[in-house]
Amino acid sequence: MDFYNVIEKRTSNKTYKSTAIPTEKLDKMIHAALMAPSWKNETCYRFVFINDSTQKEKIASAILNDDNEAVNAVMSAPLVAIIVGNPSESGTIDGKPYFMIDCGIAMEHLILAATNEGYGTCWIGSFDESAIRMILNIPSKFRVVAMTPIGETEENDEHYPPKDTSSHIYYNRWENTDR
Ligand SMILES: Cc1cc2nc3c(=O)[nH]c(=O)nc-3n(C[C@H](O)[C@H](O)[C@H](O)COP(=O)(O)O)c2cc1C
Repeated sequence: MDFYNVIEKRTSNKTYKSTAIPTEKLDKMIHAALMAPSWKNETCYRFVFINDSTQKEKIASAILNDDNEAVNAVMSAPLVAIIVGNPSESGTIDGKPYFMIDCGIAMEHLILAATNEGYGTCWIGSFDESAIRMILNIPSKFRVVAMTPIGETEENDEHYPPKDTSSHIYYNRWENTDR
């Protein structure tokens, strides 16, 4: 797929078919994720992939805010990817923790690669971190940053319209004192 088609094809999908993802396709997505840039190339993140239905059920029960669509997404997808990051393997400048950025870039690489392979995904950040940590046996030095279901979907949603250029893009200097 053309790069810009991939960008436009990616939307947050909430319903999935159960069809398993072939290993060679997952390997391509993992390759893309591990090609992501990171703080000092420390690669502070790890991915945990879940295809076991009992584990998926437990993960779904840790999703917060009665977010039923995200629960349904995790339950119905054949695979869920969870990214965790070790803050001490990344940097902090002026209170800005770059492990979150490292994880964000790697996760988006995975998501765009999944889109390119024809799969749906959905960023999910609203979950009980300590519950996920217990379910997956994640060491305390890691923070659980985000998850995404990955799988075939029948949804064919149009991407939201692009954000308004005039209120999000400035050239050379800040131009809008109201925002
Ligand atoms: C960091 C992050 C966390 C998100 N967390 C959730 C979530 O917990 N539940 C959910 O349903 N969607 C979640 N989303 C999806 C956004 O709501 C969605 O990306 C946004 O509405 C734009 O829609 P689109 O992804 O279809 O372009 C999250 C997105 C991002 C980037």
